[in-house]
This record gives sequence, C-alpha cells and structure tokens, in this order.
Amino acid sequence: KIVEVKLRLAFTGRGDETVEAEVRAGGSRGRAAAPAGASAGKHEVRHLPPGGAAEAIRSFDPSRMIGIDASDPRAVTAALRSIDGTRDYSRIGGATAYAVSVAALEAASIELGRPMYELIGLYGEPRIPLPLGNVLGGGKHAGGGAPDVQEFLVFPLDPGNIVDAVRANLRVHTLVRKGIERRDPSFPAGKGDEGAWAPRMGTIDALEVVSEAAAAASDELGVHIGLGLDVAASTIWSPSDGAYVYGREGRRLDPEGQISFMEELADRYGLKYIEDPLQEDDFEGFAEITRWAKGRGVLIVGDDLLVTSSSRLERAASMGAAAGAILKVNQAGSLGEAMDFARACRDRGYSIVASHRSGDTWDSHLAHVAVGTGAVMMKSGVVGGERMSKHMELLRIAEAHPGIGIARLRI
Ligand code: PGA
Ligand code: ZN
Repeated sequence: KIVEVKLRLAFTGRGDETVEAEVRAGGSRGRAAAPAGASAGKHEVRHLPPGGAAEAIRSFDPSRMIGIDASDPRAVTAALRSIDGTRDYSRIGGATAYAVSVAALEAASIELGRPMYELIGLYGEPRIPLPLGNVLGGGKHAGGGAPDVQEFLVFPLDPGNIVDAVRANLRVHTLVRKGIERRDPSFPAGKGDEGAWAPRMGTIDALEVVSEAAAAASDELGVHIGLGLDVAASTIWSPSDGAYVYGREGRRLDPEGQISFMEELADRYGLKYIEDPLQEDDFEGFAEITRWAKGRGVLIVGDDLLVTSSSRLERAASMGAAAGAILKVNQAGSLGEAMDFARACRDRGYSIVASHRSGDTWDSHLAHVAVGTGAVMMKSGVVGGERMSKHMELLRIAEAHPGIGIARLRI
C-alpha cells in the first residue's frame, strides 16, 4: 500500500521541464521522472499544464494516493484520473501521471522482491527486445540543413545476445560518422536530440550513408543489421497545401506521392521498418501502405497515429492501418493506461515497439516496460546517457535470467 508520494520539479537531458515522483509503499521507495517529446502527436495527453511543472505539482493532492495498492497499475491510474478530472491530464500533467505510476510500480517491485517487468506481466515467455536506434537524423530533433526525415534507424535482425545487439548499433553509429566525413570533410560532428548524427544532407544521401555503414558493420560483426525510418510525417505535413513538404530538399508530395516515395525507398534500400510514413490522422493511407508492406517484410509502425491510445488502436485495427505500434507510456499518461494499450496490441496482433522520447531522463524503466509488455523492439537511440541507461538495464535483466531469449521480428 502507498504510504507517501512526493513530487519535485525535474529536467530531461534536453532541458525540458518535467516531474519526478518518489513513492513509498511499505518500507520501499520507487522513483521515476517523466520524459518529454518534441514531435509530440496532437492526440497525446498534455505533458504539463500551462503553468509548467510547478503548477502540475501544486494541483496534485498526494494524500489521495495513500492506501492504494502500488502493485496494481489500474488502481493507481484510477486514483490519478480522479485527482486530475480532465480527459487529457491537463490539470496534473501527463508527466505527473507517468512519474507517479512508474515510481509506484518500482516501489512495489522492491517491496515484493520481484523485477518490475514481471509485475507488468503482459508477455508469454519473457524476451529481450531488439534494440532499435537512430544513427542519423533531422526533422524536429536537429537544426536546419539536416534531413527532413526525423530518424534513420538500425537494429540487428538476428543477434546472439543483447550485448552483440547493442554493439552492432554502436558500430553502425561510428561508421555513419566516417561515411558523412567522407562526403563532407568539414562535418562538425553535430548530433540531434537523441544522439544521432545531424549532417547537412537530404534523405537519399542519408540513406546511402546509413546503408553503407550498416552493410560494413554487418560484415565486420557477422550480425544482420536492418534499416528503418521514422518519418514523423506529421511534422512535414502541411494541411493548407494538402502536401508533405520536405523543406530542405524542395520536395512536395501529395498523400499518394508520399506513399509511392516510401515504397520506392523501402524497395531501393531494403527497409524493414517504417514509422509514421504518413500524418497522424490518415488512417486510410496507413491501411494502404500496410497492405503493400505486408508481403514485402516491411513493418509499418504507428506512433503519432496511435499515441498509445487503445481507442485509436481499435480504429486502426478495424481498417488494417499499421502492423506495429509505438508504446510511449507518457503519451497515454499513466503506466496502467499504457498496459491497457499493450493488451489491445496483443489481442489485435500488433507488434509492440516500446520507445523513449527525444527529451528523456536517466531512468531505465523503459527496459522493464519493453520486456513486461512483450515488445519486439526497444527504441532508445544508440548513444548518450539517457539512451544507454535503458540498454544497460536490458543487459542486467539478461544477466539475471541467463535462459531468457532475444526477440525476433516477424512481419
Ligand atoms: P518525440 O519523437 O519524442 O520528439 O515526440 C520521437 C518519435 O517520434 O519517435
Ligand atoms: Zn516517432
């Protein structure tokens, strides 16, 4: 049972204001700080109320959490919902809902002496997810001149273990820098918010660099490395023009043109993963590209489309829009709500990709969310402290459970 909840102002690694919570249950204490997005979907809950973290903390009455079972995320969500009283957490902020709900489960996990992923418990056999990380990028995560596509992603397809998997992505990251420098010797080695290189080049050149680097790393390490994109297409969608506007490259595509462009890139570069190829309300377009992708071994994933919302997932499933789902706890608010989403994904046959945010914290809970929801992938960048903390927790989970297998992508 929860005996105390304390909130404090915190900052993400990028400097976004956020909330950290400490929850005591029995004699154990859990602690969690919420991440924050930059290319947030418009259907996500609100990160913070207009007055920021101070107002979120002021409007939260911690006494109303006392006595709640910390090991029951649904009960914690119900209490948070009743304290907040709005549809989108606009009073206490999604950051508060995230921090309190994750800290509560951590406290319960310490109190019960069981790992957090086990308490989440939405898997058959526990599996270590494949690490998915961006090695090059632009969009809202980098300055002008970088590609319009937000993330160029890599992941090992068949690693023997999580250490080899993490190494493979790191090696590609290193080789991508060398590839950029070969094309532009004056590259100042700038990186975007998630540690991906942010060079002055367009989408096609970026794909050339990343596919060369991935092929070289695959040969060197004997691991097959798959390529993917997070287009974050809502950030380049111009509703007034009815077009996707690639500002840097001077490309303007209507929705059908965008679908053809994605298909062309997937064919030419052998992409295995495309996240948000279309803007967040184009369920029909998603259904069309998902039909195309299914026979070709390309996983179409919804992030801003689904925003970790069970009702948006139901709508997508009814039309066959996307085959994979990004799960970001703070898009839904609380862990309990994200768990409902994970259950819906499992019922509807969607592959789960548990994901960080571009403004993330030192917390490692994402690793438990990924294993605990049966995610096939954990998306958490490649380099940098906020990213590596999650990978390190995966390594610790694997070390504690020598028999645990690594996930395989099935499309
Ligand atoms: P965000 O973006 O965390 O900046 O919203 C990450 C993503 O689109 O996957
Ligand atoms: Zn995304």
